[in-house]
Amino acid sequence: MRVVVGVCGGIAAYKVVGVIRTLVLEGHDVHVIPTESALQFVGATTFEAISRNPVSTDLFHGVAEVKHVALGQSADVVLIAPATANTIAKLAAGLSDNLLTNSVLASRAPVVVAPAMHTEMWENPATQHNIGLLRERGMRLVGPESGQLTGSDVGVGRLAEHDAIVAAVTTALAPRDLEGRTVVISAGGTREPIDPVRFIGNRSSGAQGVALAEAARDRGADVVLVGANLEVPAPAGVRTVPVSTVAELREAVLERSGTADILVMAAAVSDYRPTTTAEKKMKKDAAGGGTSIELTQNPDILAELGAQESRPVLVGFAAETESDESALVELGAGKRERKGADLIAVNRVDEGRGFGTPDNEVLIVGDGGTVAARACGSKRTVADAILDAALAVRR
Ligand code: C5P
Repeated sequence: MRVVVGVCGGIAAYKVVGVIRTLVLEGHDVHVIPTESALQFVGATTFEAISRNPVSTDLFHGVAEVKHVALGQSADVVLIAPATANTIAKLAAGLSDNLLTNSVLASRAPVVVAPAMHTEMWENPATQHNIGLLRERGMRLVGPESGQLTGSDVGVGRLAEHDAIVAAVTTALAPRDLEGRTVVISAGGTREPIDPVRFIGNRSSGAQGVALAEAARDRGADVVLVGANLEVPAPAGVRTVPVSTVAELREAVLERSGTADILVMAAAVSDYRPTTTAEKKMKKDAAGGGTSIELTQNPDILAELGAQESRPVLVGFAAETESDESALVELGAGKRERKGADLIAVNRVDEGRGFGTPDNEVLIVGDGGTVAARACGSKRTVADAILDAALAVRR
């Protein structure tokens, strides 16, 4: 997607470099339009290197390409960060005296505005009135937050945090096809305690489940993320229920499945737990050279849900080490039958794939045990493909 980032002349411009970097790494085509004063804070070279695109502030540069409207027209989303009181006032008045304001006027894309300024300027009735106008016109505000400002003062006016700005941009880009739906996602890996310090766990970081939660949120869903020992931060704007053991995860999921439209079990759930948990740390010498832990089988949550008559669209995962595609499809089809799920996302987890890596590759096995979809790329791309397939089941 094409993201046009308008950067205004505020000290928070340096933070926006990180936002641009993230958007580029997420695969977006990012074009930066700094104002003249923004270049007093961060040089055009930095913006060019980070965005990987040429940077211009000059209205009268590249006139042959009609640049003053071309960037705005071609944008899928426009982000203005940091948005200064000055540029906010210009946007409210519909002025177009530089490349940034021209581009905004010439765009029909959603506009995300991330203001940053001193508290007095933010609270000034003129700024508040202008912000009200931008809101009325459908521009999306992210921040400002309250906290430490540039000098020693503290108050409202801090630029929103990096993740909140990135989330606002991706939300603005996403289709709203999950509006009004509730999506419950389990993520992470369970831990079954052996004693107070040891557990039976697995290598799942929770990244794929978190990407699913982000994608569902961006597409307008009300999201509940049941997170088992997540190693990645839970996204903003979703309700997170932290759990650790299978019993806790089961309770959290079953409690919420009744109100869910789609339930994705992305968590790596332990099939067994120690029959008893030692109250004190187990000592090596007590074992006498060897020991064994008696295990009890855990309830299969997905199968339990699959057996229910009235249930949400159910998506399960199958982490497999098989390399042959037909064998993977067969495993997925068998699991789909056994668990009574609608879809099984089969992913290979051998040779450094799947767990703990930024990318993923899945085959989505659906009706009749056939491949309903396949997805390969970032965990976000895979997440969107899984949600597409789940929506197709509903219809
Ligand atoms: O049973 P298996 O581990 O092969 O299947 C994996 C799928 O089943 C995943 O979606 C996982 O979240 C779910 N599962 C479950 N309850 C278990 C074990 C796995 O819901 N006890």
